[in-house]
Amino acid sequence: MKTALVRGVSSAIGSCELTHFTRQPIDVAKAERQHRAYVGALRDLGCRVHELPADPTLPDSVFVEDTAVLVDGVAVIARPGAASRRKEIDAIDAFLSLRLPVLRIESPGTLDGGDVLRVDRTLYVGTSGRTNAAGIVQLRAGLASYGYEVRAVRVSGCLHLKSAVTEVGDGLLLIQNEWVDADAFSDCTCIEVDPQESRAANALRVGAEIVYPAAYPRTAARLRDSGLRVRLVDVSELAKAEGAVTCCSLIWDAAAVCPS
Ligand code: GLY
Repeated sequence: MKTALVRGVSSAIGSCELTHFTRQPIDVAKAERQHRAYVGALRDLGCRVHELPADPTLPDSVFVEDTAVLVDGVAVIARPGAASRRKEIDAIDAFLSLRLPVLRIESPGTLDGGDVLRVDRTLYVGTSGRTNAAGIVQLRAGLASYGYEVRAVRVSGCLHLKSAVTEVGDGLLLIQNEWVDADAFSDCTCIEVDPQESRAANALRVGAEIVYPAAYPRTAARLRDSGLRVRLVDVSELAKAEGAVTCCSLIWDAAAVCPS
């Protein structure tokens, strides 16, 4: 069984960090409804969901993916590259450290979980504006004994590596190759986003299904044409905060953790 950790939408989400997006007003009530529907989709797909309360002092805290990296049997608590996001890790650390072994990225390292793409036993880590070389070195050292290889990947033009590429099947990637070089993933097969949907590379794989933004119908059709089962969710308000479907959850295999 899969376990998902999510956190409610902050009432301050309108003051979120923005890097590549222009600020637009965010309808908090609508964002909350969209988040509830997203969480409902995770439940429908068999996840046991834990929801941490929203924090009105942490605008980006709904984007829990950036706060940790979960691989079999261990959590690495991240150290977000944006200073405004560092306090987000406190509640995540408190929750996860009761349930599984925890490592931590320490200063001067920075690492956002959105920069970490797992493909089998390889962790591709984006060298974005949020994740630095020291963070990658710490992640590599911390997970070497767990059997993970960590490979740094250049990413530009977007916030995180997983803005540019996500895994939609075993060794099957959905990619925006204007932001990351597909040659970095030569062991994998790549589906390119539709050219009219430049922000469409972020997809969330949950078991055999892909949770995917309704905003990108052309790329959704490409996924379906590749034999994938796609479950659409409307995350338009959350997207204005430069977030996407992977950002709103941490999901792991419950078999790897202690009962809670
Ligand atoms: N607003 C998402 C981020 O910049 O981290």
